[in-house]
Amino acid sequence: MSAVPFTDLAAMAREVWPSVEADYMACLLNADYVGGPPVTTFERDWAAFCGASHSVGVANGTDAIELTLAALGIGAGDEVIVPANTFIGTAAAVVRAGARPRFADVSDETLLMTPATMAAVVTPQTRAVIVVHLYGQVADMDGLTAAAAEHGLAVVEDAAQAHGATWAGRRAGSLGTAACFSFYPGKNLGAFGDAGAVVTSDPDLADKVRALANHGRMSGSAHYEHVYVGRNSRMDALQAVALSGKLARIPAWSDRRQQLAARYRERLIGTPVRLADTDPRAGHVYHLLVARVADRDRVQAELSDRGIQTGVHYPVPCHQQPPLRQFADGPMPAAEQAAGEILSLPMYPHMTPDQVDVVCDALAAVTATGTDREVRYVA
Ligand SMILES: Cc1ncc(COP(=O)(O)O)c(C=O)c1O
Repeated sequence: MSAVPFTDLAAMAREVWPSVEADYMACLLNADYVGGPPVTTFERDWAAFCGASHSVGVANGTDAIELTLAALGIGAGDEVIVPANTFIGTAAAVVRAGARPRFADVSDETLLMTPATMAAVVTPQTRAVIVVHLYGQVADMDGLTAAAAEHGLAVVEDAAQAHGATWAGRRAGSLGTAACFSFYPGKNLGAFGDAGAVVTSDPDLADKVRALANHGRMSGSAHYEHVYVGRNSRMDALQAVALSGKLARIPAWSDRRQQLAARYRERLIGTPVRLADTDPRAGHVYHLLVARVADRDRVQAELSDRGIQTGVHYPVPCHQQPPLRQFADGPMPAAEQAAGEILSLPMYPHMTPDQVDVVCDALAAVTATGTDREVRYVA
């Protein structure tokens, strides 16, 4: 039996280490730990990669969202639309900023928020929409930005899963008022620990995020001069070194993910497992390769018995998480249905085509033995 892991972060670290070792050790031994040139260099390169003018390194992706909302002046009494199908961090950041999340359902086909599901939940209190490019696919930014403009809403991209993903040729990070990234180790661009960034082409917004993340200090001000009540959410220099090393590899790693996804798609033809078509305007970077299968829990358990690790992103839709139920206004049928069917298959740059074949053969075998073989969809 050939085991296939869900991901292989150590392989990425081994590949990148020779190119970062000298800078990493210099930072460590010179005690350059927080901010400084490695962070500034990464911020400059990350903004350029995204096609935006500014990038502010922060401690993690959830803080990136919370700080962006705070810098936009969004808080108590305001509502922010978030998709029901996302990681809890998206909605939790809204609550942490003092605002109220309003959940929008997702497309049954892409599992992403659509202009129609967004427009359906706008109220007079709504100030912003957080568009989540879940799984590595940018949502319909043409339709969503048009709908947001109609209602006077700021558009914040949650691009935690979409490093290098594109919409009509433009990269995530350049498509809204601001974009929030997580560099959690498992992300396509992952640090050697936690990190995040806010990317924007609005210089005032960037300055305010930077100040709020640094105890309210404006850049250039004295160490104990505080303009805002901020907090500490700065990027570590060691993480910036790791991120700069990995950034150089992102185009090649994304290509690799796309090749593996194409092989999955080809190999799953004729099985009851379906992968959704990508919108032709979206350049998908396959942070996750999400299938939809009937009888998901059994399929997952049988794959596990065969040594194949999978995940579920996410088993409980965000609006049904206990601390967030109070903000749910009604059922979210597409997100709720999908939560019981989605299955994230192994996907990482160092995966081999043969490993894709092992997963697909196993999937074909275990789905053929199920009692309920019908599959309604897949992302
Ligand atoms: C879609 C999404 N939003 C937000 C976050 C939060 O990022 P972090 O874990 O770095 O706080 C994540 C990452 O886990 C995510 O996947």
